[in-house]
Amino acid sequence: MENRPQWGTRAGFILAAVGSAIGLGNIWRFPATAYENGGGAFFLPYLFALLTAGIPLLILEFTLGHKYRGSAPLSYARMSKKYEWLGWWQVGIAFIISTYYAVIIAWAMSYSVFSFNLSWGDDTVGFLVSDYLQLAAPGEFGSLVPSVLIPLLLVWIITLGVLFKGVKKGIEKANKIFIPALVILFLIIVVRALTLDGAVDGLNAFFKPDWGALSSGKVWVAAYGQIFFSLSIAFAIMITYSSYLPKKSDITNNAFITGFSNSGFELLAGIGVFSILGFMAAQQGVGVDEVVKGGVALAFMVFPQVINEFPAFNQFFGFLFFGSLVLAGLSSLISIVETFVAGVQDKFKISRTKAVAYGGGLSAVLSLAFATQGGLNLLDVVDYFINQFGVALAGLVQVIVVVWLVKALKPLQHHANEVSDVKLTGFLGSWWKISLTFITPLVLGYMMVDLIRTNISEVYGAADGYSRAFTVQYGWIVALLAILVGVALSFIKWNKGEVEISSSSSKEVNK
Ligand code: ALA
Repeated sequence: MENRPQWGTRAGFILAAVGSAIGLGNIWRFPATAYENGGGAFFLPYLFALLTAGIPLLILEFTLGHKYRGSAPLSYARMSKKYEWLGWWQVGIAFIISTYYAVIIAWAMSYSVFSFNLSWGDDTVGFLVSDYLQLAAPGEFGSLVPSVLIPLLLVWIITLGVLFKGVKKGIEKANKIFIPALVILFLIIVVRALTLDGAVDGLNAFFKPDWGALSSGKVWVAAYGQIFFSLSIAFAIMITYSSYLPKKSDITNNAFITGFSNSGFELLAGIGVFSILGFMAAQQGVGVDEVVKGGVALAFMVFPQVINEFPAFNQFFGFLFFGSLVLAGLSSLISIVETFVAGVQDKFKISRTKAVAYGGGLSAVLSLAFATQGGLNLLDVVDYFINQFGVALAGLVQVIVVVWLVKALKPLQHHANEVSDVKLTGFLGSWWKISLTFITPLVLGYMMVDLIRTNISEVYGAADGYSRAFTVQYGWIVALLAILVGVALSFIKWNKGEVEISSSSSKEVNK
């Protein structure tokens, strides 16, 4: 793989990795997840998950990609031929996420345009559900919704357009524009938010710890889930991105920078969102807990309402908020799609153009399911299951395979130390090894058993009218499909010498 593409600069790689990490998860998911899981007390499991799983796994993935210089399937195959399927499974998870992630960006695009004349009106819930999404009952699909379809096409044109151009001229360049722009837009929002009436009450609600929440397993599951999704780990992304690093790269330091930038942005998003919720609660004369909502509802129901009530420049702030979602989302979607572009390219030896057209094209076609009248319910179920029984489960399997079955931690540590300025020795070495050998598998393993038990006994979303059949078909089966397709793809033979030759050349790098 001598002609593997490379990042132009170190900053380019870091911006791309940070761009992948900072996404809808930070702005759209984190604030409400934190609030619903103990408020200020959530920071404890969150930090624990970041320090014992997030950053150690990020270092692991950067090292895997850098040492074996391949997409996730090729990197795992080079580590041990027996575990190529794990790489394809993670690519499969990324593929499924890409199909609905694109649709949320499409909604944000529409809402950026709606901001110009606040077209959502006073009844923002009714506008989203009936006028914009034309939502059908759970399990029904109805027809395609043109107002979602058009921005969705635009999302795919931009994403695939960037990917066609390649790693340096496409991905790196796009992130060099998107990420600084995102930070500027978002800082303007946060500064304005902090100066609104009621902001302090919002922040109090956000940071007030509910220590009792820490004894609930659900809170820890939420913290791990948030860290994995938000840091883009366990779904093939960071392995793929680091495979484009030059041989001499400070892997560990890059991981710390990426991890802390992502959490810093997440905290900023929490502060911004809760200041705004505090303002809204003050306007309505109610408690903050009455206005807080998660995910889709927060971004597309509560926020438009807040924008309506803004003291001045309503349209401008609406545009900034939804524009930020679009930028954060696009830079992550690019990285998600790149995982299967790279996987297909490595395995089938086809050009990037073809890999983008086939891989990205297939995801784009499947994403149409989420642009139907049943899209929102479908998205909710697929997102929940692919995160719990995709991303989190694949993270658990990844540590078990790498640490316990292949026993690759030591050679990976050696590799990371050889190329990095910040060495995994002394305290850092022990922290990395103990986290990955014991803490992460134990905590995640316990969580997973608990999660499977809960989901078998209870139907996810029963309160919203989801039936068992609906969650089995689009939740369990979709998550299972990622594993099955992963295993099936690993049976296809590599071109002769592909796996062996390069693993010996990677040993040279190691010496
Ligand atoms: N890491 C990306 C996000 O947070 C996928 O949305």
